[in-house]
This record gives sequence, structure tokens and C-alpha cells, in this order.
Amino acid sequence: MGLVVGACLAETGNDVIGADVDAGKIAGLRENRLPIYEPGLEPLVARNQRDGRLTFTADVGGAVERSDVVFIAVGTPPDEDGSADLRHVLAVADTIGRHLQRPKTVITKSTVPVGTAERVRAQIARHTSTPFHVCSNPEFLKEGAAVEDFMKPDRVVVGIDSPEAGRVMEELYAPFVRTGNPLIFMDIPSAELTKYAANAMLATRISFMNQIARLCEAVGADVTQVRRGIGSDRRIGPAFLFPGPGYGGSCFPKDVAALRRAGSELRVPLEVLDAVSAANERQKRVLFDKLSRHFAGRLQGVGIAVWGLAFKAETDDVRESPALTLVEALLESGARVQVHDPEAVLTARRVLGERVHYAPHAYDALEGAQALAVVTEWREYRNPDFERMRSLLGRPLIVDGRNLYDPDKLAALGFTYDSIGRRLVCASS
Ligand SMILES: NC(=O)c1ccc[n+]([C@@H]2O[C@H](COP(=O)([O-])OP(=O)(O)OC[C@H]3O[C@@H](n4cnc5c(N)ncnc54)[C@H](O)[C@@H]3O)[C@@H](O)[C@H]2O)c1
Repeated sequence: MGLVVGACLAETGNDVIGADVDAGKIAGLRENRLPIYEPGLEPLVARNQRDGRLTFTADVGGAVERSDVVFIAVGTPPDEDGSADLRHVLAVADTIGRHLQRPKTVITKSTVPVGTAERVRAQIARHTSTPFHVCSNPEFLKEGAAVEDFMKPDRVVVGIDSPEAGRVMEELYAPFVRTGNPLIFMDIPSAELTKYAANAMLATRISFMNQIARLCEAVGADVTQVRRGIGSDRRIGPAFLFPGPGYGGSCFPKDVAALRRAGSELRVPLEVLDAVSAANERQKRVLFDKLSRHFAGRLQGVGIAVWGLAFKAETDDVRESPALTLVEALLESGARVQVHDPEAVLTARRVLGERVHYAPHAYDALEGAQALAVVTEWREYRNPDFERMRSLLGRPLIVDGRNLYDPDKLAALGFTYDSIGRRLVCASS
């Protein structure tokens, strides 16, 4: 997230120093080797480095000294009890305090619980009497469309407690809100909570639709029709109503967990989110359960192809990916797993090691496999050569977590096709 924010701020003319304690990452970035795959990011980093507006350093303190505005964008992984682990945020605040010799604006951009900006302020103030401002500016960019989202945000949320900080933020964000999308100023606790509330709402929509999809299968309805029917209601809207194999990634699971934890600590029950989380855990098993049914529970030695390892398309992020849940369950049941992903093989290999076969091409994954599970909605899986797939698969069975194909068409082509919230079709010949 920090890399995207830094590159986009450099693109609008600011002098940006990207600082990270990971010296390997910094060395790579200096040579325009990015640690993540994100569409449009590489040219942005390369251009701004070449033009001298974007530099990278592992000397975090030195970067603080040379800056007027400091964004904290470090990770906030879940602690053992689900709450956000603020160790990295507070470590950066400590570094900032030690290197703050002139007034600065410090912005928490990481997703952090209410009260964190105050803790950051206190941590900095332990080391310095120089005045500084603290703001909360949660980031709403989506992985896979991060540059686009940062450049053209729906809105920018800024929590402030001084007009001076407001002016700094207005100046920084002016190029990104020219088309009229709002810069929404509010108090700091409200800004901190807004980010969690947004992610919890999106996760809720997904879990809701996944449960409706299960009901569709049980009653013989089609979730695609139901989605169109409810999405056209302006009070509901069409976005984020697609059922799937469960949400994953580095944000929704951890942010829902952190909000639930905050609710339970404050004795404010958040039953909706308990259900959202439980429904998602169940949903992440949906593709395995379907496959297991098709093979009457006997997957020992059966070859299964898996298309897509990233938690969603256009990213190489596999954190909490439903594809990994599926692969682990398949391996546990003795299946042989052959995977393909256009971008996420390197990241997935760190988790799966050599326990699966990595196919260089999507069709290679099908060779010697009895069935295919589609988990990530990569564009290249949307319109494949079905004849070729049929000839490669031992059994013409496709289990689809993303509803990419037309059931009637697949039945006509001789497939058994099992998708989410739609009727199961079998070869019509
Ligand atoms: N990934 C997203 O799409 C996204 C979107 C919105 C918000 N966020 C939030 O942004 C934050 C960061 O997420 P991410 O996915 O970019 O995490 P990440 O783990 O990919 O990156 C965090 C970076 O911080 C560095 N770091 C750790 N301690 C440091 C220190 N003391 N000084 C300097 N650098 C340090 C790490 O080396 C790492 O490179 C999280 O709070 C996340 O919830 C992420």
C-alpha cells in the first residue's frame, strides 16, 4: 500500500522517499524490481525514480528527517486474539519521534483501530518537544486496481484535530479530487472507524450473497438472476453482490476480526460480523465439498487441476486465499494437485512448497487431471478452449467458484459443470 501511495504522490510532483526496514525490498525497488504485482505500478515507479521525485531508502530515520509529511503505511497483521497488532506502527512512531527536529505532519495510513493516532502521538512525544500534527487517513484502494483507485478515489477520508493538518491534507490530495469526488474531513476516531466499517460492510455483502447462493442451489433458483433482481434496487446497488469461494486477501479477514475483537472488548456485540466471518469460513470449503461429492469422497490419488491461486484477479497476493484452503484440503484427502496462476506462483510456492505441481500454462494443469476447479477470476480463464479442455481432462468435470461459464453451453459441450448458486448441469449427450 505504501509503495502505491508513494508512487502516486510522486507522480503528482511531490518529492517522495519510500522507506522500509526491509533492505532487500529497497535494493530491488532501486532497480525497479517491485515486490508485488500491481497493474500500472511498475511504470509509475520507474518514471518517478528516473525523474528523481521518488527515492528509496532503508534508513527510515534519515527519511523522516528530510520530510515535511510522514505517512505510516506499515502492516497491521492480526494478533493472536484477532486484534490489530500495532507493533510496527508504534515502532515507526518511535523512529519518527527520535528524528523529529522540525515540525511535521504524521499520517496514519495503515488500517488501525480507534485510538491508534493518539498512541502514535504519545509515542512520538516521548522523544521530542518539537510540535507536530497527527492525522488519520485510511486507504481504500483495492489490490489489483490500486493505482487507479488512488489516482481516482471515490472519496478521501481524513481525520484531523487541527486546521493546519487539514490544509496540508487538502494540498496533498488536491490533484486527486479535481473531478469533484469529496475530501471528507472528520474527527480522528471517526476516520479510524470508517475504514473498518467499510471493509466490514463489503465482507457482509459477500457473505450474504454466498449464503443466498447456497439457498439458491437448495431451492433450484439461480443466484445470477437474484443478484440482478436485487442489485437494480437503488437502495442496494449492483456492486459487490457476486457470490464466490469466500473472501480472502490481506484486508477483509483481518479487519473483520479486528472489529469483532474491538466490539467484544468494549462489550458492544457485533453479531452480524460473527455470522459474516463464520459464513466465510464455511464458504472457503465450498469447492472442496463440491469436488468431494462428485468423487463420492474418494479423492485419494485423483488428479485435480486448480486454476487461480491469488485471492482475486490482477494480484499476486495469496494471503488468506480461498484457493490455498482448497489446495490444502485436496492434499489432505490424498489428491494430486496441479495448479496454474498467471502471477501468483512465486508467492504461492512460499506457502505450498513442492507439494503441488506448478503448470507453466493453464492447459498444462489439466493433463492427467480428473477435474478442474476454477478459483480466481483471471481474464485468461474466461473464454478458454473448451474442446481442448475436454480432451485433456480425464473426466469432463468443472467446479467453478466464480461462475465464469454458461451452464447450458458447458452441458452442450459434454461437461458436468458445478458453479455457485446455480443449477448443476451434466453432459447433455
Ligand atoms: N494491501 C492493501 O490493498 C491495503 C489497502 C488498504 C489498506 N491497507 C492497509 O495498509 C497497511 C499495510 O498493508 P500492506 O498490504 O501494504 O502490508 P505489507 O506487509 O505488504 O507492507 C508493509 C511494509 O512495512 C514494512 N515495515 C514494517 N515495519 C517497519 C518499520 N518499523 N519501518 C519501516 N517499514 C516497516 C515492511 O517491511 C513491509 O514492507 C495495513 O494496515 C493494511 O491493512 C492495505
